[in-house]
Amino acid sequence: MIKFNINDTEVEVEPGCTVLEAARQYEIEIPTLCYHEAVAPSGACRLCMVELKEGNWSKLVASCIYPAAEGINIYTETERVQNVRKWLFEMLLSKCPGSNEIKEMANKYGVSSTQFPIEDTDEKCMLCGLCTRICEEVVGLSAISIVDRGVHKKIGAPFLVPSDICVACGCCVTICPTGAMSSRIDSVRNAPSVTLTPVAL
Ligand code: SF4
Ligand code: SF4
Ligand code: FES
Repeated sequence: MIKFNINDTEVEVEPGCTVLEAARQYEIEIPTLCYHEAVAPSGACRLCMVELKEGNWSKLVASCIYPAAEGINIYTETERVQNVRKWLFEMLLSKCPGSNEIKEMANKYGVSSTQFPIEDTDEKCMLCGLCTRICEEVVGLSAISIVDRGVHKKIGAPFLVPSDICVACGCCVTICPTGAMSSRIDSVRNAPSVTLTPVAL
């Protein structure tokens, strides 16, 4: 077993555990968006940042991909962590202002507005990639992916052409943390009239 400290309290976890998994085992709250236990972590959203302190130095690490290690000291609510979280929530409010899920989460952490420009007030997708990962890793298909480049990146069927690859399993809709996939899935499938059966993940 590995022993280390979270917020000055000793925790003990199996080798191979990440800091986030350890924190969840001990019911220590760390916000996440691109993490889901059903798929491999990607470290895309950075919202799960925590501070790793060692003597006189410290660094921020993404807890969903940072491995738990003997003797490390992790802090989940330092000023540095709270500042980066606030900044990330402001970025999210500007990137996907149409998402009530993001608004609610940001509000919970005390962020209700953004200093960054809003381009599309209806946008809900934060491009976290959870939908594409579940389709590939769990369903075993690659019916959706991130298409286009730069600011035009979006989730869709290959070449943005509806196809028969999608089996309408609903996993991507269930796992999407922002509500974006439910309005996008019909543009992925050749037969949008088929009812999705959302699965429990
Ligand atoms: S549709 Fe949802 S799950 Fe997919 S990338 Fe966008 S926010 Fe993430
Ligand atoms: S509904 Fe289609 S795109 Fe979504 S996970 Fe299932 S097969 Fe993939
Ligand atoms: S939850 Fe860790 S980077 Fe997104």
